[in-house]
Amino acid sequence: MHSLADTETIPLTDREFAEFQRLIYDLAGIHMTDAKKALISGRLMKRLRHYALRSFSAYLAIVTDSANVEERQTMVNLLTTNETYFFREPKHFDWLRERLIKRSRAERFRLWSAACSSGQEVYSLAMVIADEIGNAPWEIYASDISEKMLTKAVSASYDIEQAEQIPEAYLKRFCLRGIRGAAGSFCIQPELLQHIHFYRINLVEMLPEDFGKFDVIFLRNVMIYFDRDTRRRVTESLLNFLKPEGNLVIGHAESLLGITDRLQAVRPTIYMKKNETV
Ligand SMILES: C[S@@+](CC[C@H](N)C(=O)[O-])C[C@H]1O[C@@H](n2cnc3c(N)ncnc32)[C@H](O)[C@@H]1O
Repeated sequence: MHSLADTETIPLTDREFAEFQRLIYDLAGIHMTDAKKALISGRLMKRLRHYALRSFSAYLAIVTDSANVEERQTMVNLLTTNETYFFREPKHFDWLRERLIKRSRAERFRLWSAACSSGQEVYSLAMVIADEIGNAPWEIYASDISEKMLTKAVSASYDIEQAEQIPEAYLKRFCLRGIRGAAGSFCIQPELLQHIHFYRINLVEMLPEDFGKFDVIFLRNVMIYFDRDTRRRVTESLLNFLKPEGNLVIGHAESLLGITDRLQAVRPTIYMKKNETV
């Protein structure tokens, strides 16, 4: 066996590509079209190098071996698209401010960011909530399928360039500039972190029964990777976690048209759960 040079690539055959398409669909509900062949071979090539393998079939044998749970997670980490940033789609945060003013003050305000990637969405939400409701009780559950992204999210530390995405007043109040070894980065204030709980959750599997009900669920920019059937299943199962009249928020490029009749649109991409009589 000899190791592969960093630049050496190995062709991915159509049959192998079809196997990876099926595997990532079964594991994460992600529908990879034929246009994603280069993406799959590019991203998985580093695993072939890691194991010094001469074919993608050899990697398929490893990743489909039921004992290799960790390698399957590594593959999922590599094949998910994790792009995100602070205060992405600002209208959703403006809406949340209004929603918080109208919330029920008798209860803890609960929000779930269900595909949180590396955490920028979660901390943006936390800044808005902390600013609006101060000392009243609130919590955010944050989850993603990618362990790698969750590790980044939990670290709550980001390159200083990303600070530009955060409104000035929030930056001053909720972020700390790194010094010495952490120069060039900033982190989120511990006062926010104590309200946030991170979990690894695959949305296409059974969701945890003990999560309770939420006022708002953010499910943004993940359903674009799902086919219609998976979108329907994921939406239905998440709806069971919404309080009556709770809200589901999806990404601006996404649509719930024809997916469920249990929601009514409040604004584009913002929905409210209809009252259900049993
Ligand atoms: C493009 S990011 C969106 C992040 C953030 N919500 C936003 O809008 O900026 C999509 C995230 O969905 C996650 N994801 C993909 N399939 C998933 C699944 N089956 N269950 C949970 N998360 C999933 C990916 O790991 C990725 O972090």
